[in-house]
Amino acid sequence: MATSAEWHEDYDKMSEKSRNFSRAIKSVQEELEAVDWYNQRAEQTSDKQLKKILEHNRDEEIEHAVMALEWLRRCTPKFDEHMKTYLFTKGDILKIEEKAK
Ligand SMILES: [Fe+2]
Repeated sequence: MATSAEWHEDYDKMSEKSRNFSRAIKSVQEELEAVDWYNQRAEQTSDKQLKKILEHNRDEEIEHAVMALEWLRRCTPKFDEHMKTYLFTKGDILKIEEKAK
């Protein structure tokens, strides 16, 4: 049973495509939040072994976030379009936007 905290619209009326889109978006959010938290903890801990573990966990979460982003790219033409425009480029990002328009 979906809760209102998870879904902003009527779950029963949503298509499976929209549900999966939302699941992927939430997964990316959660993974990136975990990246930030692990990074903060790794920076602050005074224990060297724990620091290494936290950095390892942070990097695993980055991998998870990117995997979910790739799923979104494959399923969402706008993600695909913008990723093709901006990712793996060099130079001023805002100039890339100007050039793309
Ligand atoms: Fe993860």
